Parts: sequence; structure tokens; C-alpha cells
Amino acid sequence: MQSHHPQPVILVTGGTGLVGYAIQHVIETEPVGSRFGRREGEKWVFVGSKDADLRDPAQTKKLFDKYKPTHVIHLAALVGGLYRNMRYKLSFLRENMLMNDHVLQRAHETGVSKVLSCLSTCIFPDKVTYPLDESKIHLGPPHESNYGYAHAKRMVDIANRAYHDEHGSNFTSAIPTNVFGPNDNFDLEDSHVIPALIHKCLLAKRNDTPFIVLGSGRPLRQFIYSYDLAKLFIWQLREYDDIEPVILSVGEDEEVSIKQAVDAIVTAVGFDGEYKFDPSREDGQFRKPASNQKLLALLGGKFEFTPFKDALRDTVQWLVEHYETDARIGRRNTRTNGTNVVHNGEA
Ligand SMILES: NC(=O)c1ccc[n+]([C@@H]2O[C@H](COP(=O)([O-])OP(=O)(O)OC[C@H]3O[C@@H](n4cnc5c(N)ncnc54)[C@H](OP(=O)(O)O)[C@@H]3O)[C@@H](O)[C@H]2O)c1
Repeated sequence: MQSHHPQPVILVTGGTGLVGYAIQHVIETEPVGSRFGRREGEKWVFVGSKDADLRDPAQTKKLFDKYKPTHVIHLAALVGGLYRNMRYKLSFLRENMLMNDHVLQRAHETGVSKVLSCLSTCIFPDKVTYPLDESKIHLGPPHESNYGYAHAKRMVDIANRAYHDEHGSNFTSAIPTNVFGPNDNFDLEDSHVIPALIHKCLLAKRNDTPFIVLGSGRPLRQFIYSYDLAKLFIWQLREYDDIEPVILSVGEDEEVSIKQAVDAIVTAVGFDGEYKFDPSREDGQFRKPASNQKLLALLGGKFEFTPFKDALRDTVQWLVEHYETDARIGRRNTRTNGTNVVHNGEA
């Protein structure tokens, strides 16, 4: 009998978010057949929560029955800033564990040949030696503020090993550092540092108000542009054949201070008003560098990361172009003083 190779179908959960949008962009813009481009005959499907609520096993099953994926990039997650993580620990734990379990188990039952799930460097132990590397995920409890999210994500790595040991499955995971780029969540009340600062700076420019940055500006972070991360996801899906996770990050020598990030944002936005730091506010951890040595060794040569300033400029441009239409800026606002948003028509 002739062996039948099905058409490769790559299902991307969380396909409507920051990282999913970037993977779709790269797949659609890189030349067909190139290292990060779509391959001839491949079908890519990007889905969000409207296509299937992955907390529900029946909807997850329906989704897999509809598209019959051969590969899955699993990005969908309940994500949020510090406040939401602290307030909703049980929701972060349960909803993420449910989504991850449903996706992995459905992938196993339908014979998906590879699943690449998304973890995060913020799931590492709180007390750990730096730099972070792939061997340190389970070495101690995560930070108190996000233990629900962190434990749920850590269990994906455990599940990947167990699926391999019990069924021989080829499920793995990626560990990105802080991501930013087009289609980020720019909601001022619940977003990560870069999108929040870009949005604030843009409002300060539009309203001619001071741009106040909370904290001293001294902490150092590694930021990865979502379009670079997308290429690394595509690489890991195709060229990496192991269960163990890989940290997807710029190098330790590419840490930037919050002040450097703010300077670059001010330039990209074209803001020439007053800007200052409020050092009376919490800074968070001074630095928490992650090593990308494993990634670089596997890639077999240097990967061209987009220069931080170029990536920021393109992200700002995207927000300006999409501000009035589909950018995620929280509740639509009309007036603000640059630090507190005043919502139109609300007390
Ligand atoms: N952003 C970062 O700095 C960062 C850093 C490290 C790791 N990560 C990880 O990267 C992955 C993608 O994050 P992101 O930043 O792209 O987040 P995002 O922009 O908020 O996107 C989240 C995605 O998950 C989907 N989703 C949420 N709840 C769902 C549900 N119940 N059922 C189905 N889909 C659901 C959303 O769908 P809808 O929008 O359609 O509702 C959306 O597509 C996550 O696993 C996250 O943990 C992010």
C-alpha cells in the first residue's frame, strides 16, 4: 500500500495575539520555501478564542476535528500584567492548565506529529542564580506574585516529558523573554512595560502633557521583537527535534535599561515635551538575565536580531496607524494627562 503523507497543517492557537500575529506576518511575508517562509503545500491556520474556547474540551475537540492539524504552535494563554496575576492566581492556574491539557491531549489523540508550546522566562524560580538557563525551570518556587501562571506553564514542560516517556510524543516548548511588537496589548492598565510606555508617550504628545515614567529607569531587561521571535518559533517547529525547552531571547549583552527604552520610545514617538522618572515607585527586580547560548549553538551561527530602536520605531508606527481602529488600547479614551486615563463618558 502506498504511504499517504497528509498535507501539513499548522494550527496556531493564540493566533490573534501579539506572538500569533507576528508568526502570521512572517509566514505571509518571507519568501515561500525560505527558512522562515511558508513551504509549498503547507496550510497555516491562526485561531483565537472566538474560534474555540480552549478551556472547554468539547470546543477544543471541534477545532481539531475541523482543521485536522499535523503540527500545533500553542500560544493561547490567560496572560496579564502584575496586577491581574496577583488578583486572579486561581484563574491563571486553572485556565492555563485546562487549555494546555486540552490542547496536548487532543494533539496526542489525533496523532499530531509535533506540538510547540509557549512558556515564559517569568516562570523561573524566584531565588535562582543568573543567568537563567533551560536547566533551572524547576529548581525552586516561582515569584509569589505570579505563581498561578508560573506553575501552570511549568506543568507543560512536565507534560511534554511524560507524553514522550509514555507515548513517544514529540511535544516541546519555547521560553521567550519580554516580547513587544505590532498588535501588542497597549491597554494602559494591564499591559507590559514597552507597550504601556509607548501608549503613554503617544498620549503625552497628543495632549501636550508631561510624560512621567514610574520607577527609577535603572532596571535592565532583555526585550525580543515579536517578528524575530516569530522566526525563532518557525525554526524551532521545523528544525529542533527534542523535548527539552529552548530559551528564545537576545543575548545577555543586549540587556537595555528602562531609561534606554524610554529614550528610544521618546525618539520613535517624536515627543519633545518634558519627561521624567518617578523614583518613589517600585522598580521590581534590578535584572534577571537569561542565556541564549543553547539557542545560538542550535541555530549554528548568529541570528540577526532586529536592532531595538528599529523594532520600536516600527511598533510605534503600527500603533499610530491602528490607534483609531483595531489596536488594543483598552477602553477607548479621549482625554488624558499622560498618567491617568480619563474614560469618555464615565465617572
Ligand atoms: N508578551 C510577552 O512579553 C510574553 C513573554 C513570554 C511569553 N509569552 C507567552 O506568549 C504566548 C502568547 O502571548 P501574547 O503576548 O501573544 O498574548 P496576547 O496578545 O494576549 O494573546 C493571547 C492569545 O491567547 C488567546 N486566548 C486567551 N484565552 C483563550 C481561551 N480561553 N481560548 C482560546 N484562546 C485563548 C487569545 O485569543 P483572543 O484574543 O482571540 O481572545 C490570544 O490570541 C502566551 O503563551 C504567553 O504566555 C508572552
